[in-house]
Amino acid sequence: MQRASYVTLALLSLGVAGYALVAYGLFPLGSAVHPDMRAAFVAHRGAIYAHVFASVAALALGPFQFSAKLRSRRPALHRWMGRVYLGSGVLVGGLAGLYMSAFAFGGVVSKLGFAALAVGWLYTGLRAYLAIRARDVVAHRRWMVRNFALAFAAVTLRLWLPAAVASGVPFGLAYPAVAWLCWVPNLVVAEWFLRHSGRIHGPASTAEPGATK
Ligand code: HEM
Repeated sequence: MQRASYVTLALLSLGVAGYALVAYGLFPLGSAVHPDMRAAFVAHRGAIYAHVFASVAALALGPFQFSAKLRSRRPALHRWMGRVYLGSGVLVGGLAGLYMSAFAFGGVVSKLGFAALAVGWLYTGLRAYLAIRARDVVAHRRWMVRNFALAFAAVTLRLWLPAAVASGVPFGLAYPAVAWLCWVPNLVVAEWFLRHSGRIHGPASTAEPGATK
């Protein structure tokens, strides 16, 4: 991956992680969202806080996990960050996100979009974990690329939504569309990337571009 793309991806991830920490750590619950969403959040306070604060770990740590330099120089740190990424971010954040999907704003289309995202996030995380337990580094890397592409939905949702509203699409229509747009294209790009590139970032990747796992 080009260095500029990698840095942009990392900065966007850290930016949204920072937004979530400030908005949910320092302000009353739901201050920055639609009043109907706020009502759902207040009714499921524990789940939304668990979702936001656990998922932030994935968004904040994910970009560093793809650094070949970090993996080769500090393998123990990569392993610990991976445990936090998968254990807190994906497992807790994904289960709480799956629960919150039942109350998502925008009706059944939004609920299904977020539920499918949560299931995909949990599934790819499990596959990445099982692969590394089996010492299959290539498969682990490929599942982690897919998993982080799904975590990155937290970023793309916050790009699609203002873009849709700014182009005149009413919020009530934009939101259910964005519940799918925030992750389906990410997954397509991840698959394209896995087919066309053997490298995440830096020279030490062991990936095989044509591998099918
Ligand atoms: C990838 C799996 C994820 C799923 C399935 C998911 C699901 C959800 C759902 C269902 C909601 C409630 C939306 C509504 O009521 O309409 C929500 C809100 C939220 N999620 Fe996630 N989410 C995911 C990833 C993340 C990540 C990685 C973050 C990291 C920052 C995050 C941060 C938030 C925040 C801050 C909110 C509150 C809404 C806002 O302030 O914009 N989510 N998520």
